[in-house]
Amino acid sequence: MTSAARKLDGEKRPVSATGRFDVERVRADFPILHQKVHGHPLVYLDNAATSQKPRAVIDAITRYYEGSNANVHRGVHFLSENATEEYEAARLTVQEFLNAAHSREIVFVRGTTEGINLVAQTFGRAQVQAGDEVLITAMEHHSNIVPWQILCDEKRARLRVASINDQGELLLDEFANLLGPRTKLAAVTHVSNALGTINPLKRMIEMAHSRNVPVLVDGAQAVPHMKVDVQDLDCDFYTFSGHKVYGPTGIGVLYGKATLLHAMPPYQSGGDMISSVTFEKTTYNQLPYKFEAGTPHIARVIGLGAALQYVDGLGMENIGAHEHDLLAYATEAVSAIPGVRLIGTAKEKASVLSFVIEDIHPHDIGTILDQQGIAIRTGHHCSQPVMERFGVPATARASFAVYNTRKEVDALVRGIEKVRQVFA
Ligand code: ALA
Repeated sequence: MTSAARKLDGEKRPVSATGRFDVERVRADFPILHQKVHGHPLVYLDNAATSQKPRAVIDAITRYYEGSNANVHRGVHFLSENATEEYEAARLTVQEFLNAAHSREIVFVRGTTEGINLVAQTFGRAQVQAGDEVLITAMEHHSNIVPWQILCDEKRARLRVASINDQGELLLDEFANLLGPRTKLAAVTHVSNALGTINPLKRMIEMAHSRNVPVLVDGAQAVPHMKVDVQDLDCDFYTFSGHKVYGPTGIGVLYGKATLLHAMPPYQSGGDMISSVTFEKTTYNQLPYKFEAGTPHIARVIGLGAALQYVDGLGMENIGAHEHDLLAYATEAVSAIPGVRLIGTAKEKASVLSFVIEDIHPHDIGTILDQQGIAIRTGHHCSQPVMERFGVPATARASFAVYNTRKEVDALVRGIEKVRQVFA
């Protein structure tokens, strides 16, 4: 095995001799962080949109292209065997990262959006018929709404939506009540990208399973921040994007229980997903290759493997604890600023601080912060129904990653004060 893409080794690195989490050591791993923007040190707080990449990921991709580039699963030559080995080693890394029972349950896709579309177009089209229902929640990203709307329109099925309260928490009783005899799937987010709410996923899955309803989980905003164990959750599908967990863009994972994946028709078709082809009949490849048509993005898979190893090296408990501290610190400081209203105040939250300021448009907040080197996201965050629920057209959203610091939160607070002065 020539790359960093091998099974997780469980070795934890940047906890210093004092036992405290050493964020400066972590920051040193991320080349992009050490630059000035508009004359100010970069404060990158747009991690829910995409996270920055550590040297280990950048190097793994470069190493692959410099030393191993070839197509996978095809050649008998040295490079192809190397590339295949690294590609499949990354799958083992993902399997271990999610604690999936089998590596054949790990399908590489372009990202969370493609993972959800894959399930909608295969499992969904096979299982959902006229009069059936698909259940989602009111805090979903557009990517976990629109694929189900398209499916329901095509099948004359019904999309049901479980509401949230004023804090941005799911109304669990309503979720339970909406799980009916016609529900063919519940598709729910683990963590809301617009609010930061962490859903009580295990309970929701138990509720759904007690009514024989399978559950798909959008894990895009959860995987970077907490340990995800798909066997413990007992979810049927779990999907996430590499780029939010320090990996490359354009690569992600769909986990599916083998029995379900096995029964599903293919998604895209072509090379590598077949077992044999004649003009009369095609038989499909075994899992997971049945769902990986065409030459995959080999370098990105290897980069994702390196990212998950990097995260494992930091320790998910360390990451979660550090980010939790930042979120609590930022929540207290930002909510104390006059005119600020937080959007999303659930008891259980991860990474995300969404807010509005009276009489100031979020885009203006974002622009003035940018002039001070502070990157946040403003807009509807691809969650327009969430904006509508809270009666705002958009929010300003700061989102934290393992390399952020309390000093950066202080810079954000100073930046927001500046925004208020400009508009005073
Ligand atoms: N879904 C990503 C976000 O929330 C892009 O910003």
